[in-house]
Amino acid sequence: MNKYWQLPQDLLLGTATASLQIEGGDRNNNWYRFCEEGRIKDGTHCIIAADHWNRVEEDIALMKEMHQDTYRMSLEWSRIEQEAGVFNEEALEHYHDELSKLVAAGIRPCVTLHHFSHPLWLENAGGWIDQRVVASFVRYTAKVIQVFGGLVSDWVTINEPSVYLYEGYIEVNAPPAKSNIVSYMKGARNMIAAHIEAYKTIHQIRQSMGYTDTRVGVANHIRVFDPISTDIRDRMASGILDHVFHRIFLEGMIKGNFLFPIGLGGYPYGQGTFCDFLGINYYSRDRVAFTWNPANAFGKLTVEQGAPTSEMGWEIYPEGLYLVCARLYAKYPMPIFITENGICDATDEKRSQFLIDHLKQVIRLREEGISVERYYHWSLIDNFEWAEGLSRRFGLIHVDYETLQRTIRPSGRLYAQICKDRLVPGEAEFVSK
Ligand code: BGC
Repeated sequence: MNKYWQLPQDLLLGTATASLQIEGGDRNNNWYRFCEEGRIKDGTHCIIAADHWNRVEEDIALMKEMHQDTYRMSLEWSRIEQEAGVFNEEALEHYHDELSKLVAAGIRPCVTLHHFSHPLWLENAGGWIDQRVVASFVRYTAKVIQVFGGLVSDWVTINEPSVYLYEGYIEVNAPPAKSNIVSYMKGARNMIAAHIEAYKTIHQIRQSMGYTDTRVGVANHIRVFDPISTDIRDRMASGILDHVFHRIFLEGMIKGNFLFPIGLGGYPYGQGTFCDFLGINYYSRDRVAFTWNPANAFGKLTVEQGAPTSEMGWEIYPEGLYLVCARLYAKYPMPIFITENGICDATDEKRSQFLIDHLKQVIRLREEGISVERYYHWSLIDNFEWAEGLSRRFGLIHVDYETLQRTIRPSGRLYAQICKDRLVPGEAEFVSK
């Protein structure tokens, strides 16, 4: 007999995507240029992706079929503000239409303002490394809230600031691909400042519109960093990594506290709480080793020996979801949105069990009084996985990139059933009742 775990009724379940990864059609952004430079590992390109721009209705119908309560999506800044200070009415209308359709379908949107991609004019002016980005981001934010403030109450300002900077300035797997640790720190400072200013702007504008339900946060990429041994050097490397990859962003964006090395522990934008929820993107754990190699400035990351992994080579470690949420909640007791959690699995052999095992951790968190309010699975559909290209598949829905036809995978059917019944089965071989 199958055993089931009950999900709390007030936990909203959904999926997440990002504009550049699914929409296709935009040439005005940093990732288009990166693709044109031939930098994508499997030789694919973001110019069509899943063609979501032309298939909004079809994709919303699929979400509805999958009983989604909520959907996390992002807006493409490079479409909305094609030139600095010049807003594109057509793009604004398109997104207004998409958001209205979601709301009409009973799917609550949670909207991200910056998810790794941005206009070329911004990139050419130094991107997130140049301090002027703060004012530019606030101008874009203000416009977006004026136009969509009536449709959307839940906002993510920036997706994974640490990953954006790590990939662009340390690992050089993403634009601008210029290795420079000083740039990483400058970018961190600007992203934190931009978040705080945008947080204030979103609240002010929606308040002036008469809304009192505004919630603003950041989608933080949080990993479990475990030292590879008990050696003091490995423990130090792990601690430093935790500091520069997690702590400076969390303290900065939640509390306004600019920790060393991006500040000296001061509050240049005022002291307060600048997040209404704790956004956590959780995927995996790393074993961290100390190394003298300057190419591994952030420590050497390895995978636990013999551990199950995804097609990305990332350890599958569901317990980590519990650990990161419990640890952060102890420090920042505010509602948690799991803004991303998912697996690269083209054959769909592991995704169902992955889902079950992670949702069980959500139930465990709730049973311990930790207020997880949302779970967004990454991703709704297969999409452009950044420097890895289209061949890496994270979707609950399969996309045939020749025909662009969508097919819900078995794991997608399972998730749909879970969203409908709010029951998590004991094992992956779940048959719909
Ligand atoms: C990002 C997504 C990405 C996913 C899988 C997250 O780091 O926010 O854009 O596709 O992980 O790698």
